[in-house]
Amino acid sequence: MQTVGSYSRIQVKPIGGYLGAEIEGADLATVDDETFAEIRRAFADHSVIFFKGQSLTAQQWESFGARFGTLSITSYVPPLPGTTHVQHFVREAEHKWGDRNFGDNWHQDQTIRDRPNTIAGLYSVQSPPMGGDTMFSSLTIAYDTLSPRLQEICEGLTLIHCAQGLYGADGKGGRGVKKEIPRSKFTLTDDQVREHLAKETSHPLIILHPVTGKKILYISGPYATRFDGMTEDESQPLIQYLYGHCQRAEFQIRWRWEEGQVAVWDNWACLHFGVQDYAGMRREMYRFEVEGEVPIGAASRADYAQAAE
Ligand SMILES: [Fe+2]
Repeated sequence: MQTVGSYSRIQVKPIGGYLGAEIEGADLATVDDETFAEIRRAFADHSVIFFKGQSLTAQQWESFGARFGTLSITSYVPPLPGTTHVQHFVREAEHKWGDRNFGDNWHQDQTIRDRPNTIAGLYSVQSPPMGGDTMFSSLTIAYDTLSPRLQEICEGLTLIHCAQGLYGADGKGGRGVKKEIPRSKFTLTDDQVREHLAKETSHPLIILHPVTGKKILYISGPYATRFDGMTEDESQPLIQYLYGHCQRAEFQIRWRWEEGQVAVWDNWACLHFGVQDYAGMRREMYRFEVEGEVPIGAASRADYAQAAE
């Protein structure tokens, strides 16, 4: 269970039993060191934090993000002019019901990187009057609620992450969760698409959180293709069980966006889901992401202690 700490500069209102809190009393454009230290503590306690009523320029958003760590940006995503690391997510009103978009499934961002982002943030510039919510699910409670024997089995497994799991071998998608790789947004070359699809990255299935030391069921949904040393056919039944387990309703929260609101989430300790149900309406967001590190498996606690020194 989450604990509600004591804070003198901010008010922290938990949203769900296992994750999520709304923070009041902070103007993110001018936040001082003492207030940010409390925000950071609330973030460690709740994994996802939200702020309302903010008014930020892209540069102020970038400065706020940089307080969480060194920012990174996907190489083929151009930053918003005037910034070096702010991504501009705009969905114009022309899109239709049933269209797919980024993030419209339970996932973690960029787990195919060797050093996946640890933190990500969104700021709402314009939100639709209905729809376009973002959902989050806790992967620490997902681990904690597995049977001890299954926890033990999972701790011995290494998961292979590959974009083919979401986009298919040829990048053209397929049935069910699979979808076509959205090349037009980034003018990806054929070589870049091939390189993206070919990359396989392995991470321990159970990792330790770099700040809290809690165990995380580190599963990235569609990107999780198989376990190291096993075939896809052998791996998928357990992957699908674990993926479904992570989506239990009590592990989730759902955020209804309005302009000027902010979410910052732990990209290791949570799955998130961008709900695509606002056809005919415009949505505009600023995003930042914090550079990642190499995930350490729960089975190698000694390595973790050494790395933390
Ligand atoms: Fe995402």
